[in-house]
Amino acid sequence: MTTRKSFGSDNQAGAHEAVLRMMTLVNEGGAVAYGGDPWTERAGAGLQALTGARGGVFLVFTGTAANVLGLSLLLQPHEGVICPESAHLNVDECGAPERILGSKLLAVPAPDGKLTPALIASRLGDRGDVHRVQPRVVAISQVTEYGTCYTLAELRALGEFCRSEGLRLYADGARLANAAAWLGCSLADLAAPMDVLSFGATKNGAVGAEAVVVMAEDLMDRAAFQRKQQMQLGSKMRYLAAQFLGLLEDQLWLRNAAHANLMARRLADGLRGVPGVELWQKVESNAVFASLHPAHIDRLQRDGDFYVWDERAHVVRWMTAFDTTEDDADAFAALVRETAAIGG
Ligand SMILES: Cc1ncc(COP(=O)(O)O)c(C=O)c1O
Repeated sequence: MTTRKSFGSDNQAGAHEAVLRMMTLVNEGGAVAYGGDPWTERAGAGLQALTGARGGVFLVFTGTAANVLGLSLLLQPHEGVICPESAHLNVDECGAPERILGSKLLAVPAPDGKLTPALIASRLGDRGDVHRVQPRVVAISQVTEYGTCYTLAELRALGEFCRSEGLRLYADGARLANAAAWLGCSLADLAAPMDVLSFGATKNGAVGAEAVVVMAEDLMDRAAFQRKQQMQLGSKMRYLAAQFLGLLEDQLWLRNAAHANLMARRLADGLRGVPGVELWQKVESNAVFASLHPAHIDRLQRDGDFYVWDERAHVVRWMTAFDTTEDDADAFAALVRETAAIGG
């Protein structure tokens, strides 16, 4: 049996037709460049309304760029970023924050990918020591790299702790929509404790567009300049804006994410009771992490590529997307079940 749909990453999905339609719509005629067009204004206003940002919204091309720009608004050269060891910006951005910002990442082991006030406090011991990088920003991911979500109470606790310690809070929201769908809350609820966050569109039906959401007005004076310096001010900004406009219409961003989450749940349910297949993390978004026999991983990879998350623990990551169908999820679960029955 073969499966056509890849469970490798939500990045592997195409773009939603509503996004492509909107890109075609804004393609009519000319428009003021560098974001001075009406669509960019509309997308910015829509995103600001959704997130409750008092500052503003800055569209960029990639999630890595969003993280670098977002952090750059919050740091002085001698300051560092406390983040979980598993953070995308620590592991999967080829050192972009360190190279572009020149800032040290202060990584903390976090078993479920989540920081807590206690874990953050464990990195605060060197404050005031002139020989040491000064922790200034706490960076979390919502959804985390392990597919788990911070609850609203956990986010509020982090926000309060950071404020009480003079720290700034940043959220990598490459999958923020999936978190909103899982928690049943608004983007404004998720954004409220943050100083800056990103809101991803690429993994949720866009071609390639992310937003940096600046919650505090006092950070705005530098944001536009730093986006330009970091090569993220698109001259044809209307095409980035169009992608968000497509997703904002009728809350497509939320419907896409809720669907992707549901398909992950369905896949996980389909794996229940399969001998040798153990869920490794709670399924709280569009990712299913599971451990299984290495021989079974090899066999399954012949039918479709997916990420082996931890070679030593034989943990894989299977991801769903807005375009995963029930049949796709069921067929993949059946394939895993058949493979597991072959014996290690
Ligand atoms: C949590 C998280 N943050 C940021 C990114 C970065 O996105 P990009 O590959 O567009 O730079 C990703 C992409 O996989 C991600 O999973």
